[in-house]
Amino acid sequence: MNSLTILGLETSCDETAAAIVRGMPPGPGEILSNVVFSQNDAHAPYGGVVPEIASRAHLEILDGQIERAMSDADLAWEDVDAIAATAGPGLIGGVMVGLTTAKALALGLGKPLIAVNHLAGHALTARLTGGVEFPFLLLLVSGGHCQLLAVAGVEDYRLYGTTLDDAVGEAFDKTAKILGLPYPGGPAVEARAAYGNAKAYALPRPLLGRAGMDFSFSGLKTAVRQLANQGKLNVDDACASFQEAAIDILRDRTTQALAKFREDFPDAARPALVVAGGVAANQAIGAALADLAERHGFAFQAPPPKYCTDNAAMIAWAGLERFALGKRDPFDVSPRARWPLDPSGENRHSGERQNGA
Ligand code: KG4
Ligand code: ZN
Repeated sequence: MNSLTILGLETSCDETAAAIVRGMPPGPGEILSNVVFSQNDAHAPYGGVVPEIASRAHLEILDGQIERAMSDADLAWEDVDAIAATAGPGLIGGVMVGLTTAKALALGLGKPLIAVNHLAGHALTARLTGGVEFPFLLLLVSGGHCQLLAVAGVEDYRLYGTTLDDAVGEAFDKTAKILGLPYPGGPAVEARAAYGNAKAYALPRPLLGRAGMDFSFSGLKTAVRQLANQGKLNVDDACASFQEAAIDILRDRTTQALAKFREDFPDAARPALVVAGGVAANQAIGAALADLAERHGFAFQAPPPKYCTDNAAMIAWAGLERFALGKRDPFDVSPRARWPLDPSGENRHSGERQNGA
């Protein structure tokens, strides 16, 4: 088969994005265009994403984003093989805008429609950018999710562990809010942490050293709040101390998952540890995990930061992977607020995107 060219749309949270990707599994693919509008300014006054504001903004600008993606890629519609869009999980109003737009385009142009799981988009990005082979161990860390999964195929995910309370990105965002830093909190906390002393404040590391691969972050965030209530904090030191605690938790849980992965996939010689999702843009977290992978004989892949945070290239690629397997979706496919990658893990994890506001 020749390479495939897919238009992808992403509207599940507060990025309005369209992208065109070309290639064949296992990748790497070529990103012909990647247009992302972050609604950060619209949501910043509220310290989190306001669903009504998000869906209205998606509706207003998505058409323009698609036009730009097409002109940046210098393509005509006949060059596009299929239209992919995020169908969930996410804020339902936003998902509806993107999915309905994709349906209208696909119907009008007579092209196949591919419904994409946003989390699969994050999961498969390392194939788009690095050509990573299955199976690999995935640490998916974003504003709404914190999961360890074995990824054995385009639609074969085994949930190893998930957060019992907050997602790690959410913990970064809430910590930023407590410390008076701007939204989104992750980049702000990382920037300030670079100037701080990580030993300045003793913060808890919930579940550290316990068996299992689940995460807990709410105690960490609460400890930051208590410190802040006690008196004036040095913001740089608080950020550094928080980030180091978060890294310790991620490292500890991932270490257990590396061992479990070895048991489950004994034939994989040098499998990859992939870190994806918005928090994977954090350089300190990436460095800690790269070191961990190396020590356990795993390759390490973190997609470039701009493909870690929400974007449509990852949706186009996940659509391309499904399309290459011969999958198509019907025009009555429904948007989903909840959509776990591993349905058998559903009782442990809702697959629901949290509203940060
Ligand atoms: O994947 P993403 O763009 O959206 C979701 O699907 O949630 O992730 C956004 C999250 C936010 O919580 C943001 O604070 C966090 O990723 N994030 C970071 C960094 N950049 C973004 N967290 C820590 N360090 C960063 N550099
Ligand atoms: Zn995301």
